[in-house]
Amino acid sequence: MRLVNVVKPTHICNLACTYCYSDDVRKPVMAAETLGVTIRETLELAKQYESVDEVDFIWHGGEPLVAGREFFESIVSFQSEFASGVRFTNSVQTNGTLIDSRWAEFFAKEGFNVSLSLDGPEEINDRFRVYRSGAGSFAKTWKAIQALRAVGLNPGVCIVLSRATIDRTQEILRFLSDNHLRFNVIPLTLSGSARDHYDELSITPQEYARAWISMYDEWIDAKDGYVYGHDFVVKTRAILYGKAADCIGMSNCADFNLSVDPIGDVYPCASLSGNPAAKLGNIGDAPLVDILNDERSTTFRNRAVDPQCAECKWQHVCHGGCMSRAYKFTGNINSRDFYCPGLFEIYEHVAGRLAKHSIAPGTRNRWHMTDGLDPALVPFKQTATKEPPRVIPIHSIREV
Ligand SMILES: C[S@@+](CC[C@H](N)C(=O)[O-])C[C@H]1O[C@@H](n2cnc3c(N)ncnc32)[C@H](O)[C@@H]1O
Ligand code: SF4
Ligand code: SF4
Repeated sequence: MRLVNVVKPTHICNLACTYCYSDDVRKPVMAAETLGVTIRETLELAKQYESVDEVDFIWHGGEPLVAGREFFESIVSFQSEFASGVRFTNSVQTNGTLIDSRWAEFFAKEGFNVSLSLDGPEEINDRFRVYRSGAGSFAKTWKAIQALRAVGLNPGVCIVLSRATIDRTQEILRFLSDNHLRFNVIPLTLSGSARDHYDELSITPQEYARAWISMYDEWIDAKDGYVYGHDFVVKTRAILYGKAADCIGMSNCADFNLSVDPIGDVYPCASLSGNPAAKLGNIGDAPLVDILNDERSTTFRNRAVDPQCAECKWQHVCHGGCMSRAYKFTGNINSRDFYCPGLFEIYEHVAGRLAKHSIAPGTRNRWHMTDGLDPALVPFKQTATKEPPRVIPIHSIREV
């Protein structure tokens, strides 16, 4: 099993995207000591738990590159100091605007996977991915793609499905295919700036499904110019295997996902970072393993089954959808994902497409509630005695 730690070196960002979900008011750059403890204790978890065979570090933010190259050099040096045989990977999720040839060379040399955020062609991207001045960021991100390619890296791009993109999916897919860009698509989350501009940005679950399906059909029918589409592969795989294939469809995503913020606060998910009700502890106050085995953490890996999900044909691949989206839209991790009706339509559609080729969905995996892992092997404590937190963070914490 892979353990994923999404680390946020800083919440500072050089852009001010209209939809940015970042809810956090605290903007420091992580201190070297916090970074060292985070890396050491995450790698320790893999040594302690037999079922954890690899650690994925995802460097996220805010804009992680704002932390500077010295910070990234420290990452590499702490990892080589503490890994002692544990396998790990590094990925960085970045807006790309700060990437020049030196950054590109660093990522190539140190084997970082690079994921850029780019919503499509310039006019579409620059509607919401902007600097504080309102100027678009496309040109700089495009330069980053060239710089990364020049050193042999093949960056992917992350596309947010919002009002700017849902009616332009064919153009976006053509752009990705013409430029050989692998991609992921994620629907808008109600959080941070997105909350302040929700009227301008929002999409309904049905609009989400329509955009996703139109892009999926074009993608799966493509005769040439194939590019890898992560969410399309993940949802197809889930239907075929009879169990969720990524954290969004897993009932217990907090079993193998955690996130550490710039001041060492630990959260069960990067999307909940900065939300006081979801804070599990601080790595300066207790060992990470104790934080993850604490009662507060176990509440996040005991998401209740929603009555409608229990009856749902696709429960074994969806499990209520994304816990953080459920929380951000309703304030309750036990509720269904806001995009539930869209998710149902999407799974139906994928199964229908497979049926046309006489491919039947996989039978429900026996351990689908533990996402295919024998419950005895699931790391960290499972049994919670307390109800999960039900604080309703309807107002951004910036207002509190
Ligand atoms: C918050 S950013 C942090 C990393 C980096 N600054 C970047 O833009 O890639 C991480 C990803 O979340 C996406 N994102 C931001 N706000 C979002 C929202 N309200 N809903 C869904 N995705 C969002 C961004 O487009 C980006 O791909
Ligand atoms: S989405 Fe990324 S680049 Fe845009 S404002 Fe948020 S943190 Fe910055
Ligand atoms: S599609 Fe909706 S009802 Fe079905 S499992 Fe997912 S969230 Fe629950």
